[in-house]
Amino acid sequence: MSLDGHIALITGAGQGIGRACTVTFASKGADLVLLDKNPETLGEVAHEAAGMGRKVMSDVLDLTELERLREVAEKARKMGLIDILVNNAGFDRPGTTAKIDKKAFEEVLGIHVTVPLTLIQIFLPGMRAAGWGRIVNVGSIYGITGGKGEVAYSTAKAGIIGLTKSVAKECGQDGVTVNAVLPGLTRTPTIETFMNERYKEAIIASTPLGRMAEPEEVANVIAFLASDEASFITGIALPVCGGWAV
Ligand SMILES: NC(=O)c1ccc[n+]([C@@H]2O[C@H](COP(=O)([O-])OP(=O)(O)OC[C@H]3O[C@@H](n4cnc5c(N)ncnc54)[C@H](O)[C@@H]3O)[C@@H](O)[C@H]2O)c1
Repeated sequence: MSLDGHIALITGAGQGIGRACTVTFASKGADLVLLDKNPETLGEVAHEAAGMGRKVMSDVLDLTELERLREVAEKARKMGLIDILVNNAGFDRPGTTAKIDKKAFEEVLGIHVTVPLTLIQIFLPGMRAAGWGRIVNVGSIYGITGGKGEVAYSTAKAGIIGLTKSVAKECGQDGVTVNAVLPGLTRTPTIETFMNERYKEAIIASTPLGRMAEPEEVANVIAFLASDEASFITGIALPVCGGWAV
């Protein structure tokens, strides 16, 4: 499974699943455009990918500042045709329907739906013109099951599934596939730092594989969907959850 000759843009590349994607994609030969708001972690992962012999451009930005995002995307085009887009960056603002405020709700929809839409609008025309492209959106199991106390996040993650399927229908004839992966609980710095142990244990107890995912296990599926080997797969929302949602 090679990604040689392709340029992949990965959002949220600094840590967790985005970082694992960066290293996996670099190991499969892709050149990379890496975006994140954290200068330290982004610098480290960009250095690591460059050390693997890949061409790397990285930019520090808050992706939800859409004007700045458009400028950075324009700059990224100088690397060449970006024909793989991984919409991964995300964050959570927990809250029930009674507690969530409008600002938090819109921030979560912004990062998980509006930012991916904006990047798709920017890069899809080039992929269609080239007759080959891969878009992989990182959703969540909560996008299909909902999550108690996770009303904004679950709504946003359901939204990205709708976006995935709609764009897939628009551009399939032009050789561009659009898919979503839906991780279950995955051992990333945010989960390790902020999720309380009782909550983690409850999820693991209802996961048939009996553990959380390592970020690389999610990245491997994203890399597969980004490769030629996945040429006849589009519009799917693929759980990578150890059976949690079964
Ligand atoms: N870890 C899990 O258990 C899990 C489960 C299901 C889905 N997901 C999804 O997977 C994706 C990655 O999750 P993760 O756990 O690796 O996250 P993480 O919090 O460990 O890393 C997210 C990265 O995105 C960056 N980022 C966040 N907001 C940004 C912004 N506005 N602008 C620029 N960069 C920004 C952060 O700086 C960070 O480097 C997210 O979309 C998340 O919702 C994660």
